[in-house]
Amino acid sequence: MVEPFLQTLFMRNFAPFAVITGASRGIGAEYARALANQGYHLLLVARDPSRLNQLSKEIQQTTSVQVWTETLDLAKPNAAGTLYQLAQSYQPHVSLLVNNAGFGLYGLFSGMPLSTIQDMLQVHIHVTIESTRLFLPDMMNRRQGAIINVASVAGFFPIPYMAEYAATKAFIISFSEAVAMEAKDNEVIIQVCCPGYTDTDFHKTAGHRPRHISSPHTPHDVVQNSLQALRSRKTLVTIGWQGLATQWITSFIPKKWLMRLTIRFVRPNSSSH
Ligand SMILES: NC(=O)c1ccc[n+]([C@@H]2O[C@H](COP(=O)([O-])OP(=O)(O)OC[C@H]3O[C@@H](n4cnc5c(N)ncnc54)[C@H](OP(=O)(O)O)[C@@H]3O)[C@@H](O)[C@H]2O)c1
Repeated sequence: MVEPFLQTLFMRNFAPFAVITGASRGIGAEYARALANQGYHLLLVARDPSRLNQLSKEIQQTTSVQVWTETLDLAKPNAAGTLYQLAQSYQPHVSLLVNNAGFGLYGLFSGMPLSTIQDMLQVHIHVTIESTRLFLPDMMNRRQGAIINVASVAGFFPIPYMAEYAATKAFIISFSEAVAMEAKDNEVIIQVCCPGYTDTDFHKTAGHRPRHISSPHTPHDVVQNSLQALRSRKTLVTIGWQGLATQWITSFIPKKWLMRLTIRFVRPNSSSH
């Protein structure tokens, strides 16, 4: 029988290691809980240190995994480089990278502060593409590993009053699908997870109360679907029947019609603040 301390030592050294951005709340925090339950050591990254510490304590009370937290504003230049260096300082091999950090913007594009748009481009596009470039080669060399890029069903078609958000998510989908095909031969999985309306702080932070036909997903629904799909090596993942329906409808209805329909739900003066 293996001594308990040797077992712990073995686990510490050989357990898989996941890096999760936007882990302080919502979907990212749920990825952290689910992956800890699967035995992953974790590096959790976001801007809010108190929420990160609270989550780290919660996870360490219920599992024996190592949890490291780092406060990092991903809207800053070269944030992906910093993220990569931080991950390397804890463990040289990353088994799973979850590029989840993100935020919404609602309103007339021409009135949106330029600095906020620049932050969105940095967090959604630069961090996703640069961190994938930094973490992927080691995974490909080891023929092992996965990257989950969290996009949205909003990336399936152009959405007025969410123009920049929908466009950045469309970018993430296109980018992830292409790199997924390249990485497949080396056994590395790239998944692009596309949730629909999910019950998190996301909409409040963006200053918009959405009017949706169906009830929201929970972060738990999103993460369980995503991690299950990882086991089946699926690239593009939607959540539940709503996700499938959106994917199907947006594949054949002309964009103009889709935009005319959606505008009724997202036009700022139609929301009920
Ligand atoms: N909720 C939805 O309906 C929905 C639907 C489709 C897709 N998504 C996507 O799901 C992902 C997670 O969103 P959520 O719903 O969980 O929203 P959330 O509860 O607002 O969480 C967003 C996370 O991103 C982090 N973040 C935002 N800006 C950051 C920055 N500059 N630097 C570092 N971290 C940053 C936040 O941490 P700090 O504030 O602590 O930095 C937080 O942990 C996003 O990519 C979002 O686009 C959400």
